Amino acid sequence: RFLRWAWRLTYLSVLASVGYVSYQVYDLHHPPDQTDPDPSKKNLVILGTGWGTVSLLKKLDTENYNVVVVSPRNYFLFTPLLPSCTVGTIEHRSIMEPIRNILRHKKANVKYYEAEATKIDYEKRIVYAKDESEIKGDVMETEIPFDMLVIGVGAENATFGIPGVREHACFLKEVNDAQKIRKQIMDCVETASFKDQSPDEIRRLLHMVVVGGGPTGVEFAGELQDFFMEDLQKWVPSIKDSFHVTLVEALPNVLPMFSKQLIEYTESSFKEEHIEIRTKTMVKNVTDKYIEAEIQKPDGSKGIEKIPYGLLVWATGNAVRPVVKDLMSQIPAQAKARRGLEVNEYMVVNGAENIWAVGDCAVANYAPTAQVAAQEGAFLARLFNTMAKTDAIEAEMRELSAKQANAKPDERKVILEEINERQRQLRRVKQIGAFSYSHQGSLAYIGAEKAVADVSWFSGNIASGGTMTYLFWKSAYLSMCFSTRNRILVCFDWVKAKFFGRDVSRE
Ligand code: FAD
Ligand code: NAI
Repeated sequence: RFLRWAWRLTYLSVLASVGYVSYQVYDLHHPPDQTDPDPSKKNLVILGTGWGTVSLLKKLDTENYNVVVVSPRNYFLFTPLLPSCTVGTIEHRSIMEPIRNILRHKKANVKYYEAEATKIDYEKRIVYAKDESEIKGDVMETEIPFDMLVIGVGAENATFGIPGVREHACFLKEVNDAQKIRKQIMDCVETASFKDQSPDEIRRLLHMVVVGGGPTGVEFAGELQDFFMEDLQKWVPSIKDSFHVTLVEALPNVLPMFSKQLIEYTESSFKEEHIEIRTKTMVKNVTDKYIEAEIQKPDGSKGIEKIPYGLLVWATGNAVRPVVKDLMSQIPAQAKARRGLEVNEYMVVNGAENIWAVGDCAVANYAPTAQVAAQEGAFLARLFNTMAKTDAIEAEMRELSAKQANAKPDERKVILEEINERQRQLRRVKQIGAFSYSHQGSLAYIGAEKAVADVSWFSGNIASGGTMTYLFWKSAYLSMCFSTRNRILVCFDWVKAKFFGRDVSRE
């Protein structure tokens, strides 16, 4: 009897999944008819197609505004799985969602310009945009006026002005960074296998150095060692004894945002996986073949050490983008801001009217994570939908008041009742509170099919690490992927990597 019920339940859930996927596929191919822009409505300009702004676009009722999106990236990138793309566990297109798909499914037409905002003129309410893509038309630069502006341009890579970083290191923020790393890993391996290469040079070429022990650096180091253990050493056995991954961190430990036990777990797990961690090691200079780092010797004194490398990945956190810095310099209230645009509890840029900021470019006392950016974006969508409703109700009330002035006494009573009803609606609509962030926890993959998680549970916190946490990590990120299409592609990639191994060809 139990088996019969289990079978029925399985059958129903398979049927439901097939139905859901079929509906998603149908929906993808049948976007709705869209209404055209209405000049009487406000121009809402949105800068960026990242976590903050796409979350806003997803929930925004675009019929209420003339929405214009400006971003040099015509897709949304699911960054949590980007480290997996550097070694081919996941193909980069599986975690990209075209912005055109997202916008084409909105009720009202949304304009998209593939361009970079180069300057925001806060006084004149104009965004200056430049087409930075390879193919240029006659017009490459333009001005976009706005009534309302949302800035969600994220952050750029921090280098702290350390010489040689931009010239010689790879970053890990965008798809092309991941592609560059993937190519360079294989280039190092093939160059190290070149005839008559000296043992010292082989060791240098196969020394993979990651600078920055935050989650980006840790996840990448874990993925790279997996690639070596599971695939590379099988296909290129000659590199077996020389391939080596080192993680360099200036602070006394890696993953400072995780609890102490998970930091210890990660460090011991890296030791087992043969990933070297060099803490209290601050990189000061980068050349094409080695880095120079300030180290703390066992006696407490400091010294400089040269560390040769073949591949150098730089993951030392975020810095403010020039367009944001420039806007900060125009607003006196932002004079003391350093890490980005300071915003209030409604995500309004302090000292500016009708300009909002979300995600990594906004400073609202939260960590610069996807989780925060997505919640801020969703909050803004609610705020803008509410503001539009408020405007509509207020316009109706003005109309009714004018009608009431010329109405006969018996009609007046009915109109007054309608006005009161609108007032009640207005009070209900205006009840939207300030933004409040709900932290769901932190997750990071640490290699060898292990992950660490600090997850919020009611008012407490659960810290866990290991293979079960890795399965949780996988299912959590799979469920968070932008679309069903992304989810299916990521699953296929995982299965493909498991059965056939990762691809070691260099594109
Ligand atoms: P982004 O998502 O970076 O988007 C910025 C957008 O602005 C992009 O579309 C960009 O093209 C566009 N843009 C840039 N310049 C301009 C310009 N001048 N004009 C117009 N548009 C512009 N966070 C987590 O919570 N969990 C994770 O597991 C996690 N993993 C990560 C892994 C990696 C490898 C990285 C790099 C980050 C990870 N993060 C994670 C952090 C997370 O990705 C960021 O906090 C998040 O992307 C911030 O969202 P955002 O909308 O502010 O910016
Ligand atoms: P980070 O800011 O978290 O860590 C950078 C690390 O680099 C710091 O520990 C710092 O001490 C170190 N560092 C800086 N300069 C150095 C130098 N010269 N030499 C040696 N070490 C140096 O940066 P990361 O990892 O890029 O993350 C950026 C943001 O994205 C963070 O807010 C993070 O929480 C989020 N993120 C979250 C992930 C997750 O939740 N799984 C994954 C990746 C990023």
